[in-house]
Amino acid sequence: MSGVGGFFYGDMFRELLAAGLVVAYAGYCWHKFRQSRQARQPMPPAGAAPVSADANQVWVIYASQSGQAEDIARQTAASLATPRCQTHVCRIDEGWQEKIVGARCVLFIASTYGEGGAPDHAARFVREYLGGEKIIPALRGVRFGVLALGDSSYQSFCAFGRQIDAWLQASGAVREFPRIDVDRLEGKALRNWQKQLTVLGLEARAEISLVQPQYAEWEFEKRECLNPGSPGSPICLVVLRLAGGGTHTWQAGDLVDVLIPEGDGHPRAYSIANLPGEGRIELIVRRHVREDGTLGLASGWLTERALPGDRLSLRIRNNPGFHMQQDLSKPLILIGSGAGIAGLRAHLQARARMLAEAGEKAPQRDAWLFFGERSGRHDHLCQLEIEAWKRSGVLSRVNIAFSRDDPVTPYVQHSLLAQGKEVCDWIAAGAQILICGNARKMAVGVDEALRNLLGAEQVDSLCEAGRIRRDVF
Ligand SMILES: Cc1cc2nc3c(=O)[nH]c(=O)nc-3n(C[C@H](O)[C@H](O)[C@H](O)COP(=O)(O)OP(=O)(O)OC[C@H]3O[C@@H](n4cnc5c(N)ncnc54)[C@H](O)[C@@H]3O)c2cc1C
Ligand SMILES: Cc1cc2nc3c(=O)[nH]c(=O)nc-3n(C[C@H](O)[C@H](O)[C@H](O)COP(=O)(O)O)c2cc1C
Repeated sequence: MSGVGGFFYGDMFRELLAAGLVVAYAGYCWHKFRQSRQARQPMPPAGAAPVSADANQVWVIYASQSGQAEDIARQTAASLATPRCQTHVCRIDEGWQEKIVGARCVLFIASTYGEGGAPDHAARFVREYLGGEKIIPALRGVRFGVLALGDSSYQSFCAFGRQIDAWLQASGAVREFPRIDVDRLEGKALRNWQKQLTVLGLEARAEISLVQPQYAEWEFEKRECLNPGSPGSPICLVVLRLAGGGTHTWQAGDLVDVLIPEGDGHPRAYSIANLPGEGRIELIVRRHVREDGTLGLASGWLTERALPGDRLSLRIRNNPGFHMQQDLSKPLILIGSGAGIAGLRAHLQARARMLAEAGEKAPQRDAWLFFGERSGRHDHLCQLEIEAWKRSGVLSRVNIAFSRDDPVTPYVQHSLLAQGKEVCDWIAAGAQILICGNARKMAVGVDEALRNLLGAEQVDSLCEAGRIRRDVF
C-alpha cells in the first residue's frame, strides 16, 4: 500500500511541483514582459503628469522667420523611425498646448530674430507665456529637447531658444539633454541634435541637413547714389550681373548673401530691390561707417570701392517671412525707412506687374506707402519711381516722413498714428502690412504704433496670419 501509496503521493507531488513551476515561470515571463515594455516607454519622472494613451506622440514645434527652423522641424519629424511613434509638426502659434497631454516628448526648434527676439508669428506666444502669467499644465513632466538657431555675430546669440529652454524647465518639463545652439546652421550642431534624439528614445533614419543655396559668381556693374548731398551716409542703388550669363529666380521679399573679394569670409545679407529678369540683381545699400571711422566691409566695397567687372560671390535666399499675399483685391500697406526702400521697391514692382497682367479686370488696387528718411531735399529715395507708381495707380497713397523737415510727424510711426483711423479701416478691409528697414528704431516704433492703434491681440493675430510681415535689419 505504502508502495502504491508512496507511488501515488510521489506522482501527485511531482504534478504539483510541475504545476507550481509552470505558474512561477508564467509569472516570471509576465514580469519580464512588463519590464521590457516599461523600458521601451518613457518613464514619467517624479511629479510627472499622468501619461495617457498618447505616450507615443512626438511633437515637433517650431518658430521660424525665414523658414530654416521650419525646414529642420519637418526633417526632424520625417527622419524619426521609432516604431509606433506618431510625429506632429506644429508652428508655435498653432494651438498645440492641449494636444501634447501625455506626449512621449516635445521638441522645440526656434530661431532668434531682431535683437534677440522671436520670429514674428511667435509674438502672442511670447506675450502670453514667456512674458505673461499663462501656463501650460500639460508640459509638467513632459520630456523635451530644444534646438536653438542663431548667428553668433548677433549680441543675443540664440536668445529666443534660450528663453524657451528656461521657460520649459520652469514649467516643470524635463530636459533630457542640454539645449543645442546652432551657429549659422553649422552641420556639426545638427548632427549632434540628431544624436541626442536617441536620449529621448527616438531613432532617426535619415540625416538632417539643409540644402544651402549655392553661391554663384556675379559681377559688379554700376552704382548710383540715391541721396546726393545728404548729410547722412550715402545710399546707393547697386547693380550686379550674373557672370557668364544664365538665369536665377526669386520673388519680391527674398534676400541675397554676398561674399566680397578679400572679405572676412562672413556673408552679408541684402534685400533684393528688383524682380528677376535680364540676369541682374539690384540692391539698395547704405554705406556703413564703423565707430572707429572705417567703412563697413561689404557696404564699403559695394558703395565705394568696387569697379565695373569686379567679381563677388552671391547666393539668393528664399525669405517667406517677407513675401506678399498675391491677392490684388486686398489693400497693401508698405512701411519702411532708409535702405529698407529696397524690399518695398521689389514689392511695388511685383504689384505693378500683377496689375499690368490683370489689366482692366484688376480688382481694388489700394496700396499705401509710409516711408521715412531725413530730409526731403536730399533723401527722397526713389522719388521718380514713387511718383510714377502714384500716377499709374500702383500706389494710391504716399506719406513720407522727413525727420529733419517735420517736427510734428518726424518718423513713419508718427505718420501712422496721424492717419490712425484710416490705417485701421484698411486693416479691417484685409490689408497686409510689409515692413522693411531699420530694426532698432523704425521697426520698434512701428510695432508700438500698431499696438497702440489696433491693440496687442490684433497685432499678434495679424503676425500669425502673415498679414504683418517684416524684413528688418
Ligand atoms: C536680413 C537682412 C537684410 C539686409 N538688407 C540690407 C539692405 O537692403 N541694405 C543695406 O544697406 N543693408 C542691409 N542689411 C545690413 C547688411 O547685411 C550689413 O550688415 C551692412 O551693410 C553692414 O555690413 P558691412 O560689411 O558694411 O559692415 P561690417 O564690416 O560688417 O561692420 C558692421 C559692424 O560690425 C562690426 N565689425 C565687423 N568687423 C569689424 C572690424 N574688423 N572692426 C571693427 N568692427 C567690426 C562693427 O560693429 C561694425 O559697426 C541687411 C541685413 C540683414 C540681416
Ligand atoms: C534680421 C535678423 C536678425 C537676427 N537676429 C538674431 C539674434 O539676435 N540672435 C541670433 O542668435 N541670431 C539672429 N539672427 C540669425 C537667425 O536666427 C538665423 O539666421 C536663423 O538660422 C534663421 O532661421 P529661420 O529661417 O528659421 O528664421 C537674425 C537673423 C536676421 C535675418
